[in-house]
Amino acid sequence: MTITKESATGIKPFLKWAGGKTQLLPAIEAKVLKLLRAKETIHFVEPFVGSGAVLFFMLRKYGRHIGKATINDVNPVLAGCYRTIKYNPQELINVLGALEKQYFTYTSEDDRRAFFLEKRIEFNGLDGDVVQKSALLLFLNKTCFNGLYRVNSKGHFNVPFGKYANPTICNAPVILANSEALQKVEILNTDFSEMERLIAPHTFFYLDPPYKPISATSSFNAYAKEGFGDADQERLKTFCDKANNGGAYFVQSNSDNSNADEGSGFFQNLYKGYNIEQVKAKRAINAKGSGRGAVFELLISNDAVLQ
Ligand SMILES: C[S@@+](CC[C@H](N)C(=O)[O-])C[C@H]1O[C@@H](n2cnc3c(N)ncnc32)[C@H](O)[C@@H]1O
Repeated sequence: MTITKESATGIKPFLKWAGGKTQLLPAIEAKVLKLLRAKETIHFVEPFVGSGAVLFFMLRKYGRHIGKATINDVNPVLAGCYRTIKYNPQELINVLGALEKQYFTYTSEDDRRAFFLEKRIEFNGLDGDVVQKSALLLFLNKTCFNGLYRVNSKGHFNVPFGKYANPTICNAPVILANSEALQKVEILNTDFSEMERLIAPHTFFYLDPPYKPISATSSFNAYAKEGFGDADQERLKTFCDKANNGGAYFVQSNSDNSNADEGSGFFQNLYKGYNIEQVKAKRAINAKGSGRGAVFELLISNDAVLQ
């Protein structure tokens, strides 16, 4: 099946995810246009895909320039969910649709919370049934507090109930349109460093790692129980150097720590010699209400490879 204009509009993130990049899209698009002036067809690679705001934007708007795409996330449930959408969309819709139907048979908040907690226990104990696990991930994502994905030290999802009046739990048109779009996308589940083998002059890496917290308490980055610390940020810099030396183009978003008490100028020092732009963004998901509002983020890239 080819992507028609109508179905292309349904190509968009199917999950809410902390650090979703919708707000940075105009700045990222400017980089993409620069790249497409230099190269007709690219291999799009997203090593930290999350909910895939940039992936789906690229597939929707620049799909004809993407010869091939590869996405990766260290979170196995997330990677399993992408694979389920790619290979078993109808089965997923059936299971998720049944969960949605049952959820809406409960009218009181207490009953809905009890059902949510029951499904959260089922999700944490489930191993092996990827379609069921993916359906539960989507169900919990749409009904939990702020659409967060957070795990405890045992790797158990522990976000509380979200109290939404009328959440869309099973969005079949989006699942089907994404399934079609994902047919040319390879889905991996490993550490970002494994993407080194994809470095080539036509490769475009969009890198969106868990951000370095602006202060010790400001931010949340427990997407995975392993976390992502300064040593990982430095490993990512080594990855970027290799990509640059191999002629690949990379664009990385990260937090702007230039006004932070600690770690001030961390990325400016680490990425000396690369392009660093400050971009205004509003954080939609933050553990503390006080953390909402305009903040700056950084876009780091190696535009020199395009000249
Ligand atoms: C900031 S989020 C990406 C958000 C994404 N751009 C979006 O639009 O939703 C970072 C992602 O990196 C993943 N991650 C954390 N450590 C990783 C690692 N070492 N290798 C690959 N992925 C990792 C997390 O599971 C998380 O989904």
